[in-house]
Amino acid sequence: MFCILSFFPCLCIGSFMMVNSSGRASGQKAHLLLPTLKENDTHCIDFHYYLSSRDRSSPGSLNVYVKVNGGPQGNPIWNVSGVVTEGWVKAELAISTFWPHFYQVIFESVSVKGHPGYIAVDEVRVLAHPCRKAPHFLRLQNVEVNVGQNATFQCIAGGKWSQHDKLWLQQWNGRDTALMVTRVVNHRRFSATVSVADTSQRSISKYRCVIRSDGGSGVSNYAELIVKVLYYKSGEVLEQLPREAVDAPSIPGGVQGQVGWGPGQPGLL
Ligand SMILES: *[C@@H]1O[C@H](CO)[C@@H](O)[C@H](O)[C@H]1NC(C)=O
Ligand SMILES: *[C@@H]1O[C@H](CO)[C@@H](O)[C@H](O)[C@H]1NC(C)=O
Ligand SMILES: *[C@@H]1O[C@H](CO)[C@@H](O)[C@H](O)[C@H]1NC(C)=O
Repeated sequence: MFCILSFFPCLCIGSFMMVNSSGRASGQKAHLLLPTLKENDTHCIDFHYYLSSRDRSSPGSLNVYVKVNGGPQGNPIWNVSGVVTEGWVKAELAISTFWPHFYQVIFESVSVKGHPGYIAVDEVRVLAHPCRKAPHFLRLQNVEVNVGQNATFQCIAGGKWSQHDKLWLQQWNGRDTALMVTRVVNHRRFSATVSVADTSQRSISKYRCVIRSDGGSGVSNYAELIVKVLYYKSGEVLEQLPREAVDAPSIPGGVQGQVGWGPGQPGLL
């Protein structure tokens, strides 16, 4: 089930969602959609959330998605589940998607059967300054490799790195890959790298970095992974063809291969 519960176009008033999870089937969802945002400057979105139930067990979970340029909803960039909160809790979203690109934030509550209670989101605000706690990513650069090579994305964020933070790479279609290695550059900046091993045409996609920290989540822009194909003839490399050309049936030697995910490698800055 999908319902927009409440929506105020003026974000200064604050958007609000309250789901009474009593009598709901497990997995039943409700969504709160924010208007599409086209921001030019570093900004922060913050909100308050609340999960409560009569028997002190969690009424369900709350997920946040960031949909870019009207693309797929993908996987959450922030979530909370299996808990009840002591009153309202504040969380921040540091979203590094800027004009001319646009994005939409979607809040989703998922109810658990048999735990009557409330899942609520309130006071969603777009602030014209950076987040206090959620780290902001610097621009994620496109990566271009020849087919078969490993492609390495470098996620760099401003803010303090904590051992409890979770960092991952999210593909345009929502697939998540953990980022293993982080390198603290100084007390205000850190970076993490992730390699897409043994690239093939199937690795061609857009990727972004996500971090979940104590105070909220940060998410970078989407960067492209461009995989170039070498076209051989009589043992000589003739030219490098872009993907479109390789897709055409007249080109011999279509590329086959599995996309592998390698462990993160230490970043070099
Ligand atoms: C960002 O800049 C563009 C082009 O100048 C403008 O159309 C858009 O409204 C701006 N966005 C915001 C949030 O001010
Ligand atoms: C968020 O969701 C992921 C999987 O979708 C799960 O592994 C993780 O534990 C969740 N985080 C929290 C805090 O619930
Ligand atoms: C590419 O990644 C794979 C898997 O992580 C690794 O075994 C291999 O050594 C890497 N190759 C290069 C050239 O770094």
